[in-house]
Amino acid sequence: MQVLGIETSCDETGIALYDTERGLRAHALHSQIALHAAYGGVVPELASRDHVRRIVPLIEAVMREAQTTLQTIDGVAYTQGPGLAGALLVGAGVASALALALGKPVIGVHHLEGHLLSPLLSAEKPSFPFVALLVSGGHSQLFFVRGVGQYELLGDTFDDAAGEAFDKAAQLLGLPYPGGPALAQLARQGKSGAAHLPRPLIDAPHLHFSFSGLKTAVLTLVRKLQSEGCFNEQARADVALEFETAVVDVLAAKAFAALRQTQNQQLVVAGGVGANQSLRSRLVKEAAALGVRVYFPEMEFCTDNGAMIALVGALKMGQGARDYGFQVRPRWPLTELAAA
Ligand code: KG4
Ligand code: ZN
Repeated sequence: MQVLGIETSCDETGIALYDTERGLRAHALHSQIALHAAYGGVVPELASRDHVRRIVPLIEAVMREAQTTLQTIDGVAYTQGPGLAGALLVGAGVASALALALGKPVIGVHHLEGHLLSPLLSAEKPSFPFVALLVSGGHSQLFFVRGVGQYELLGDTFDDAAGEAFDKAAQLLGLPYPGGPALAQLARQGKSGAAHLPRPLIDAPHLHFSFSGLKTAVLTLVRKLQSEGCFNEQARADVALEFETAVVDVLAAKAFAALRQTQNQQLVVAGGVGANQSLRSRLVKEAAALGVRVYFPEMEFCTDNGAMIALVGALKMGQGARDYGFQVRPRWPLTELAAA
C-alpha cells in the first residue's frame, strides 16, 4: 500500500510517499525558518500562506523522485492536529481535495503519533512495547507504547516543553530563532561547571517535568552577569552549556526512571529536541551501561516532516482506518486519540 503524507502543522511543509512493502519512496521538505526569523518566532498567517505556495510543487517533486504518479497511491494522510489552525487547514484541504479527485481514502493523523512512530522509518526499528521520550517545541512527554494507537502517558510537563525552554533560554542569551540548535551550538564553547542552574524535579518520585523555573533561573543568572559587567561571549557559552546539561540531566533521569517503571529495555527518542547531540550521546552512554537500546529517528525525521505522517497513515489504513471527514484539531492531546 502506498500512502502520500502531508504535514503542515507549523513552519515546515513536509510531503512524503511511503510504501508498506518498500518503505519510504521519496520525501521533500520546505522549512520556513528564513521567513519567520525576522520576527523571532512563527507568524501563523505567514506560515499558512507559505504552505499554500509550497504544497503542490512539493507533491509534484515527491512524485517525480519516486518516479510514479498520483494515480498509483492508495490513500492520503494529513496532519489533523495539534498545530496552527490555518496551517493545518492548508494540508487538510489539499489532502481531502486530492483524495476526492482520485477516489481514494483520506485520513487525519495526530502529529505527535507521527513523532512517536518516526523511528519505525529507520532500518533498525524498535519492537513493541517501548518507552518513548517525546521532546518537541510543544511537548515533553513520556509514553509507554504498546502498539500502533496504544499510548499510555507516563509523564508530562507541568508548564513549558523542553523545546520551548530551549527557545526561551536562547532568546535570553540573545540567540536567533530557532533557539534550540543555536543554543546547542553556543554550548560547545562553554566551560563545564562555570555556571550553575537547577535540575527541576530530577529527584521527584514521578515522571513529570517542569521547565519554566529553569528559564527563570537563566533570566536571573543573565541579569546577575550583566549587572556585574561580565556577560561576555564566554559567559554566554557557559550559561548555554549549563542550561543544555540541566535539560539533558532531567530528560535522561526521567527516561531511565520510565524504563525501570515499565521494566522495558527499549527507549525511543522523538521530536525536535531529539536532534540535540548532547542528549543523544548521554542517553546512548547511560543506556549501554544498563543494557538498554536507544532508538533515534534519522536526523531529518527528528523535526517535522511528511514521512512520519505518511508512515502513520499507512499503518492506520493497514488497520482498516477510513476517515473521509474534513477536520483539523489545533488542540488535541494524544491521550484522546482513541476517542477521536
Ligand atoms: O518537533 P519539532 O520540529 O516541532 C514541534 O512539533 O514542536 O521541534 C521543534 C523544537 C524547537 O523548540 C527547537 O528549538 C527544538 O525542537 N530543537 C532543538 C534542537 N533542534 C531542534 N533543541 C535542542 N537542540 C537541538 N539541536
Ligand atoms: Zn513536531
